[in-house]
Amino acid sequence: MKLVLACLAVLFLASVLARPGKSKKQSAGDAFEDAGITELLNIQAPTNWLKVKYGSIEVKRGNDIYPGDTIEQPTITFDQADPDTYYAWFLLDPNYNNYSAKDKKPYKASLFALYVNIKNMNINAADALAKYLCPNPRPGTGEHYYVHLLWEQQEKIDVSSCDMPDYETDQRYPFNLTEFISQYNLSDEPAAGNFHTASFPDDLQEVCEEGGYC
Ligand SMILES: *[C@@H]1O[C@H](CO)[C@@H](O)[C@H](O)[C@H]1NC(C)=O
Ligand SMILES: *[C@@H]1O[C@H](CO)[C@@H](O)[C@H](O)[C@H]1NC(C)=O
Ligand SMILES: *[C@@H]1O[C@H](CO)[C@@H](O)[C@H](O)[C@H]1NC(C)=O
Repeated sequence: MKLVLACLAVLFLASVLARPGKSKKQSAGDAFEDAGITELLNIQAPTNWLKVKYGSIEVKRGNDIYPGDTIEQPTITFDQADPDTYYAWFLLDPNYNNYSAKDKKPYKASLFALYVNIKNMNINAADALAKYLCPNPRPGTGEHYYVHLLWEQQEKIDVSSCDMPDYETDQRYPFNLTEFISQYNLSDEPAAGNFHTASFPDDLQEVCEEGGYC
């Protein structure tokens, strides 16, 4: 009996110790700051976590997700969404070239999705300026962040206006988030955000190198 109790105690301790993140919940703002994403994108930190799910896989403050699991557009939820406000959802790779600070080059973002005029978090009914493209880290460029951001719009964006950027045919790289935010009057800081990481898969890297494709 004593032995059983001791085992249970060990199991309990192990489970507590194995989940350091569970005891202190990190805020979205702190996670974005710690990962350097606010600096990479030159934005203020989001106030809330955005719920992003690829099927059953949840995006969770920088967890690694295999690119093959992100082929389908994720579902996005934000419980605190104001029913009278339009929102814009971005998916960005903030450092497409994976420059480091010592490269002393401006970080350039690539756009993977941009939907505006989102009401009640219904992305399917929103206007797609850039249809969802799945995260595709290029071979040899290491680990990338894929950053989901939800911004409040001040008004509905007229997507039929002829000076609307066309991200389907134009390059999605480099994408200047600062410029877009000021041009389309988005809120000063994102209402919510989340991010995961992904790399070009190791097993494919080998094939890629052997075949001389990269
Ligand atoms: C950039 O790529 C290198 C290797 O190519 C990798 O070690 C590093 O983690 C990457 N940096 C970032 C910020 O993802
Ligand atoms: C983005 O645009 C802003 C405002 O026009 C500019 O100050 C900034 O240098 C641009 N950033 C990049 C990386 O080109
Ligand atoms: C942004 O706000 C300014 C000033 O309130 C307004 O003139 C402009 O039309 C707005 N831009 C868009 C894209 O709605």
